[in-house]
Amino acid sequence: MTEINYEIDGNIGVITVNNPPVNALSHAVRSGLKEAIDYAQNDASKALVIICEGRTFIAGADITEFGKPVQAPSLYDVLKAIENSQKPVIAAIHGSALGGGFETALACHYRCALDTAKVGLPEVKLGLLPGCSGTQRVPRLAGIKTALDMITIGNPISAENAKKAGLIDFVITGDLKKGALAYAEELVDQQAIPRRVRDMKVTSDGIEPGLFDSYRKKLAKKARGQLAPQHAIDCIEATMAMTFDEGLKLELDRFLSCLNSPQSSAMRHLFFAEREAGKVRDIARDTPIRDIKSVGIIGAGTMGGGIAMNFANAGIGVTLLDLNGEALDRGLQVIRKNYQISIKRGKLNETQLEERMSLITGSTNYDDLQKVDLVIEAVFEDINIKKSVFAQLDQICKPGAILATNTSYQDVDAIAAVTNRPQDVIGLHFFSPANVMKLLEVVRGEKTADDVIATAMKLARTINKVSVLAGVCYGFIGNRMLTNYIREAQMLLLEGATPELVDSTMQTWGMAMGPLAMGDLAGLDIGYAVRKARTDLPDDPKYCRISDLLYEMGRLGQKSGAGFYQYDAQTRARNSDPDIEALIKVEAERLGVIQRTISEEEIIARLIYPLINEGARILDEGIAQRPGDIDVVYAFGYGFPIFRGGPMCFADQVGLKEVFDTICQFRDRDPDDKFNGIYWEPASLLERLANEGKTFAEWSKSRD
Ligand code: 3HC
Repeated sequence: MTEINYEIDGNIGVITVNNPPVNALSHAVRSGLKEAIDYAQNDASKALVIICEGRTFIAGADITEFGKPVQAPSLYDVLKAIENSQKPVIAAIHGSALGGGFETALACHYRCALDTAKVGLPEVKLGLLPGCSGTQRVPRLAGIKTALDMITIGNPISAENAKKAGLIDFVITGDLKKGALAYAEELVDQQAIPRRVRDMKVTSDGIEPGLFDSYRKKLAKKARGQLAPQHAIDCIEATMAMTFDEGLKLELDRFLSCLNSPQSSAMRHLFFAEREAGKVRDIARDTPIRDIKSVGIIGAGTMGGGIAMNFANAGIGVTLLDLNGEALDRGLQVIRKNYQISIKRGKLNETQLEERMSLITGSTNYDDLQKVDLVIEAVFEDINIKKSVFAQLDQICKPGAILATNTSYQDVDAIAAVTNRPQDVIGLHFFSPANVMKLLEVVRGEKTADDVIATAMKLARTINKVSVLAGVCYGFIGNRMLTNYIREAQMLLLEGATPELVDSTMQTWGMAMGPLAMGDLAGLDIGYAVRKARTDLPDDPKYCRISDLLYEMGRLGQKSGAGFYQYDAQTRARNSDPDIEALIKVEAERLGVIQRTISEEEIIARLIYPLINEGARILDEGIAQRPGDIDVVYAFGYGFPIFRGGPMCFADQVGLKEVFDTICQFRDRDPDDKFNGIYWEPASLLERLANEGKTFAEWSKSRD
C-alpha cells in the first residue's frame, strides 16, 4: 500500500504514513495502519514508531469522507488495534497532529514530537467534537481544565506546552526520525511496557465546583449559537463519572449528532471555501509571481496604519507615507499603541514591538517610493484624489512595481486608466481594523496582469489574510451586497420595528452585530457620504431616511455619543433612545408608512434574503468566482455566523425555491410601492436555480 510503508530499523518497526498533502486519515491510511500494526505483532520488532512523510503528522480525519458511508476499518478500530498492541507504539510528531491525527497519537503508548510541532483538537472549528476518544483521553493525560481549553476552543498548542501538560513525553530537536528511533530504543532497553491511556484515572484534584457550568456560560457567549462546544463539555465532564468505554459511546453519539447537523455542514463548507477562494479559476497555479520585499503605503490614517502592521508582522519593510507630517507622526504613534495593546494581552513582547516598528519607516516624500515592490494607496475615498495619487505613482515607481488601491467602492479600471501601466494596477480591499480583520478582497481590473493577481493572492497568505477575488463593480462583493441589507434594516424601522428589535434579532440569529449598531460603529456620516455620492439609486424618499435624519441631527453614531442608540461616554454601553423611537414613528407617518408588529422571522428574511439575491447577481455577472467565495467574504469580513456557512450556503440549506418565493412575496406585498418592485426584483440566476430545484453549490460544481 503506497500510503503506508513498514520497515524494521534495529529493534524498531517503523510505520510511515505518506498521504499528501496533510496525511489525512483516508480509508487507505486507516487500512494500511491497521494492517501494519497487526503484522508487526508477530515480527522481530520490539517497539513500533508511527511517523509521517511530508509537511505534517496526520492532520485529522479526511474531511472529504464525512457524510459518506464509513468504510471499514473505522478510525475506532485502528486506534483500538494501536492501543491493544503488545509492543509499545510511539507516535513521532512533526508539523501538526490535529483532530483524528492527535487522537491517533493519544492512542499510542508514548508520544515524542519535534520542538516545532503542534498538537490540537480543532474539531469545534468544523462544528464537531473529537469523535474518536479525544474527549476521553486528554482529561486522563492532562486533566480536565486542559481538556476543556483545548477541545472547546480548538486552538493547537506547542510541543513544549503539550509536554508540560503531559500530552507529549519527549521533545526532539533536529532530526525527528533519528530522535524517535533513539527514544524507542531507549524504551526497549528499559523494557517499557505499553502504557494505555484508557486505563488511566481522571483526577478531580483542583477542579472547583461549577467549573463545567462556567465553561458552558462562557462558550454560550464566545461561540454564540454553536452546539459542538457544549457537547464537548458534556463529554469531558462524563470522564469523571463514566468508564472509558461509556465515555466513548457518549462521545460518538454526540459526534454523529454534530456531524449530521446543518451547523457542521456549514462550517466544513467554509473550511474548503476558504482554501478554494485563494485559487483563481483562469490563472495557472504555477504562474510566476513577483517578489514583494518592500511595500509603500500612502495614507497614515487608521486604514493605512493597520495595513502597514500586516506587513511589519510578516517581516516585510514598509514605507508609510503621508504628506502631512503631523498625521504621519500620529499614525506611527497609533501603530505603536496597537502593538502595546498586544503586549498587554500577552501576544507580543517588547523586543518584537521594536523589531516591527523598525520595519515601518515614515515619509512625507513620494520619492521614497521609487524602489518599493508594491504600493497600497489608502487615502480618502474620493476617485479624483485617488486618480491623482496613481498619476504620481506612475511617474515615480520602478517598472514592475504593483500599484494597489484600497478603495472600498471606486472603479479600479478608472484609477488604472490614469497610469501607463494598467496591467500593474489592482485593488486590495482591506477591512477595518486592517490589522485584525482576516479578509482581503483582491479586485481584478480589466487589464490587471495574471501575475499581479497571482502575486496578490499569494501575498495575502504571507500576511495571514484570507483572499477572495472580485471583479470591478460598485462595492465589489461585500459592500455591493450590503446596499439592500442596509435599506431593509431602515425600512423595518419605518414599518414598526425598533432598532433594538432589529439588532437583537440579528445578533441572536448569529450576526456579530446588528445592522443599525454596525452603522453607529462605522459612523453615520460615512454612510451618508457614500449615499450622496451615488447617482444610480432610485429616487426613493424612504431610502435610508432614518440614517439621513440622524446625520442631519448631528447624531453620527458611537463617535458622537449617539446615533440609532445612545452611548455611555465612559463604557460605550449602548442604550435604546425613546426619542429616536418616537422620531421614527413621526417620520413613518409623514411618509405614509403604516406601522405594525413585525416578527423576528420576517426581520431575518428581510435582511438576509437581499444578501442572497445580490449574491446571485454577483455570481451571474462573474464578479465572484464561486458562491463559496461570497460566503468567505461574509464570514471573514462582515461577521456572518460561521455556523450558517455564509449567505449562499445558508440559501442552499433553506432551499432556493423557498428563498425565491419569499423574495417574490416581499416584492408583491405592496403594489402601490414601486420601490419594492425594484429592490426585491429576484435575480435571474436565483429564479433559474429555484425552478430547476438546484443549489448554488451544484451550479458552481457544474462549472468546474
Ligand atoms: N481532510 C481533508 N483535506 C484536508 C484536511 C483534512 N483533515 N486538512 C487539510 N486538507 C486539505 C485542504 O483542503 C487543502 O486542500 P487543497 O490543497 O486542495 O486546497 C490541503 O489539504 C492543504 O491544506 P491547507 O491549505 O490548510 O494547508 P496548511 O499547510 O496551510 O495547513 C493544516 C495545514 C494546519 C493541517 C490545515 O490544513 C488544517 O488545519 N487542517 C484541518 C485540521 C482539522 O480540522 N482536523 C480535524 C478534522 S476532523 C477529525 O479529525 C474528526 C476526528 O475527531 C474523528
